[in-house]
Amino acid sequence: MLKVVVCVSGGGTNLQAIIDAVASGKITNTEFVGVISNNYGVKSIERAQKAGIPAYVLSPKDFADRAEFNDALLAKVKETGADLVVLAGFLVRIPEALVKEYSNRIVNIHPSLIPSFCGVGYYGLKVHEKALERGVKYTGATVHFVNEGMDEGPIIAQKPVAVEDGDTAEILQRRVMEQAEWILLPQAIDDIANDRIEVVNNKVVRK
Ligand code: GAR
Repeated sequence: MLKVVVCVSGGGTNLQAIIDAVASGKITNTEFVGVISNNYGVKSIERAQKAGIPAYVLSPKDFADRAEFNDALLAKVKETGADLVVLAGFLVRIPEALVKEYSNRIVNIHPSLIPSFCGVGYYGLKVHEKALERGVKYTGATVHFVNEGMDEGPIIAQKPVAVEDGDTAEILQRRVMEQAEWILLPQAIDDIANDRIEVVNNKVVRK
C-alpha cells in the first residue's frame, strides 16, 4: 500500500477528487496517512476529517521564520510515514530539504499546460487570468514530479482544455478542474501506487 500525505492550502477540490477515487476504487493500493494545510479554517481540513484522515495545520505564522517552518513541514511529512507527498493546491514554496529527501516522491497539480503559465507568481486563479489575458485558445492542467525548480520537474501527465468566448478566470478554473485536474491527479497517483511509471533522464516513462 502506497502511503500518501496530501498538502493543501484552501478549498481542496483536488483533495476531494483523490479521496473519492480511493473510495470508488479508481485509485488502488493507496492509503491516506495525513492531510497538511498551511492555513487554518479551510474547507480541506473538513474534507479530510469527514474522510477520517488525520489533518494537521502548519502555518508559517506560527514559526519564527521560514527556516523553522520548513523544518517543521519536513518533520511532519516524515512523521506521517508517507511514501508519496501530493501537493493538491499547496501554495507554499517546497523546501529544498523536502525535495531532496523525497526525490521523485512529490507530485504537484498545476492548472496550465507547463511550460506555459507556470513558475513564480503563477498559482490558483492567477494562472487562468494570465491565460485569458494572453488569449490562448487552449489551456489545461499538468501533473508533475517536484524538483528544486518551480514547476520544472518531470511531467507525468497533461490534458488540454478549451478556452471559450466569454470565459472569466473563475469559469475557466472550474472547467480546467472538471475536465483535467480531477481526472489527471487520481490517475497519476494510481500509476505511482501500481508502479507503472518511472523517471528516466528527467522524463517520466511508462514501465
Ligand atoms: C488548483 O487549481 C490547483 O491546480 C492550483 O490551485 C488550485 C487549488 O484548488 N495549484 C496551483 O496553482 C499550484 N501552482 P483546490 O484547493 O480546490 O484543489
